[in-house]
Amino acid sequence: MSRPAISVRAPAKVNLTLEVLGRRADGYHELRSVMTTVTLADELSVGSGAGFVMAAATDDAEGLLMPVPGALNTVERAVAVLAVRLREREHLSPLSPEAALRFGLERAGVRLAKRIPVAAGLGGGSSDAAATLIALNRYWSLGLEQLELQQLAAALGSDCPFFIRGGVQLASGRGELLRPLPSPARLWLCLLRPPLHLERKTARLYELLGPGDYGDGARTVALTAKLEGGCGAQIDPEDLCNSFDAAAEHAFGGLTVYRTILAGLGAAAVHLCGAGPTLAGWFTDQQGCSRAASTLRSEGHAAWAVSAPA
Ligand code: C5P
Repeated sequence: MSRPAISVRAPAKVNLTLEVLGRRADGYHELRSVMTTVTLADELSVGSGAGFVMAAATDDAEGLLMPVPGALNTVERAVAVLAVRLREREHLSPLSPEAALRFGLERAGVRLAKRIPVAAGLGGGSSDAAATLIALNRYWSLGLEQLELQQLAAALGSDCPFFIRGGVQLASGRGELLRPLPSPARLWLCLLRPPLHLERKTARLYELLGPGDYGDGARTVALTAKLEGGCGAQIDPEDLCNSFDAAAEHAFGGLTVYRTILAGLGAAAVHLCGAGPTLAGWFTDQQGCSRAASTLRSEGHAAWAVSAPA
């Protein structure tokens, strides 16, 4: 008897605060960040059949399907990681990641419908990987607890454990240590993805940070206290920050134009999403946010009106 298919939403995220405290002995950077999922999401499903198919969820998402030659994508890496657990349970010998991926994809058909722009700072790849771990854990009845899934996710990317939990979380360490936070009042964001690209983007952005970009974590402590003061706290533009804001201007070149466009459309604050290049314009009302996204799209920009938390 074939098992029922399982569908999981894989939401994008934004960092309300993103403070990089400094470089660690292991080469990673120590972070403090309040992160929230947003309503823009990919859809991951697993079911009978075999193989991995990725498709654009909408016509205007065709550009999202950029293959990375020679490298496994985050979904394939997640399939390989859980296939190793499936083989352990069946007392089969260990395999290389590529062979484990083939083994896994003979035992489940995996389909990903993309909406989140790739390499954009919105955590799309990590979210897809986390959704794959969640869906296959259920589909193969592996019985892994949330904490075990988070540990597996940490090996796939520093922000991957966040997506195992979702919602609003305080992240520390290299991003993998999480504490749930109460939701703020609904946030309206216009995401604008400039057509700017950078090889090894995240690693490069971290390398570009200097002591002047580092935070001391105080902004994140203050926002955490505000959120913990009661459900539905109002987020103010001064609460938001991102240690990459200045370095990204330098690295991407031409980002200022897009900041000015969002401010001109009425955003109360504009910050980079993660390590960019997507910018989030923060709006005080839904109408203003939707209008800004429609205007940007009519001018040919890649823009989305989203809300948070999701
Ligand atoms: O963990 P992830 O694969 O997303 O990280 C990509 C790169 O970003 C790392 O190899 C590292 O250079 C940098 N990074 C960092 N500190 C973090 C997260 C990532 O230096 N907290």
